[in-house]
Amino acid sequence: MLQVASEIDCQIDPRPKSTLTAHSPEECADDVLVGGSNSAFALPVKICLERGSGSRVWDESEREYVDFLLGSGPMILGHAHPRVCEAIARQLSKGSVFHTLNRPAVELAGRLVEIPGCVEMVRFASTGTEATLHSVRLARAYTGRDKVLVFAGSYHGSHDLSIIGHRGAARAESGGVPRSAIEDTVVARFNDVSSIEASFAVHGSSLAAVLVEPQQRSLDPLPEFLPRLARLCRSAGVVLIFDEVLTGFRLAFGGAQEYYGVEPDVVCYGKIVGGGFPLSAIGGRREIMRLADPTQASAPNFVHVSGTLSGNPVSAVAGLATLAELEEPGVYERLHRLGERLRSGLAGQLNAHDVGGSVIGSGPIAAVEFSDPDGARSGLVLREAVNRDLILQGVLVQLQTRFYISLVHTETEIDFAVDAFGAALEGAIQRPSAASTLNSHAAPTRFL
Ligand SMILES: Cc1ncc(COP(=O)(O)O)c(C=O)c1O
Repeated sequence: MLQVASEIDCQIDPRPKSTLTAHSPEECADDVLVGGSNSAFALPVKICLERGSGSRVWDESEREYVDFLLGSGPMILGHAHPRVCEAIARQLSKGSVFHTLNRPAVELAGRLVEIPGCVEMVRFASTGTEATLHSVRLARAYTGRDKVLVFAGSYHGSHDLSIIGHRGAARAESGGVPRSAIEDTVVARFNDVSSIEASFAVHGSSLAAVLVEPQQRSLDPLPEFLPRLARLCRSAGVVLIFDEVLTGFRLAFGGAQEYYGVEPDVVCYGKIVGGGFPLSAIGGRREIMRLADPTQASAPNFVHVSGTLSGNPVSAVAGLATLAELEEPGVYERLHRLGERLRSGLAGQLNAHDVGGSVIGSGPIAAVEFSDPDGARSGLVLREAVNRDLILQGVLVQLQTRFYISLVHTETEIDFAVDAFGAALEGAIQRPSAASTLNSHAAPTRFL
């Protein structure tokens, strides 16, 4: 029961609450970071990274890993890329946050507008979460409608709407999400044309937006799916938003718009566009984007899209330097070749070890889906055991999501990861209890 104000002791307790000097950071984290983690997605082995260079990262004990986590995707050029570091150093000495117009932000917006597709105007934010949140708000103001259609199993960040349907049902996958958010969300099935047609038949006239990952998680769309979705949106006056936080500048320079050849009304960029610094972008058709124009703040459907760090020059120069590298000839051919090598290697290992599952993804993305034939979460248990073993062998990856590949990964590193995956499968099959015993670190790794 809530205490009434007069009973509450509001004095500050002067005793020290914790000390960070007594333990390793990994141990200390349990006391001061919720769940000992920075994220809702914990790795199966707790590691505290100290530095990264190219495709490698090192933890505090000098263990070396080939990094397929890549900071959850932004580091497509690898860590501490010289061109990015140089650009940031130059900008840092001139100041980092102004909250005003600055040349790098204007230039970066210009680069986004140049990409063939729907982006005519841009507003920056700092995270993918903010980008998808603001894009939906713009769509609601533009259409005067409230409902948003998302897809079962999608992910759009941490705000209320984006975690509805994340695990497949029209319900929140987190505490603290109000019922009203669930009531305004329609959940359809990705890659299922009959599902979107049925949803539009019932809700089409009350939908403000469809928010879709054009490649959902790592699953490619069927050829007819996105074009049909775009046509349904157009005929019902619904704003089609591509969440390209993951796919932007990864599948192709022009992201999923270019790769799948379908044009939405609004695109959300994150991860790569900030070159490893906090920056995301919402871009779209002028008539939608102009609703966020602050000179029109007294207009009835003015949309508030703002943030202290939005479009800061350090993130913008990191983004510009990253995009410049990605525009070099042959970049996407290489990324796709490496991705293909990894996917076929991983699939070969599943086959060789007779483990049920599949490897999905395209471009520099590979995700392993373990099957769960008995419905007893055996696939999940296997995935965790294999993931743990991979990390202990020096392959940093989060199998719950995917392998991210950078431009500086080598064929040898890809083959190393494939071999390690095979060894991890072997170990997990031969020692089913390995899941509980693999969590102790051995001596520092050195390899390749
Ligand atoms: C498709 C997609 N949208 C949105 C987000 C959220 O981005 P952020 O973590 O920067 O808020 C993510 C993050 O992984 C993502 O993959």
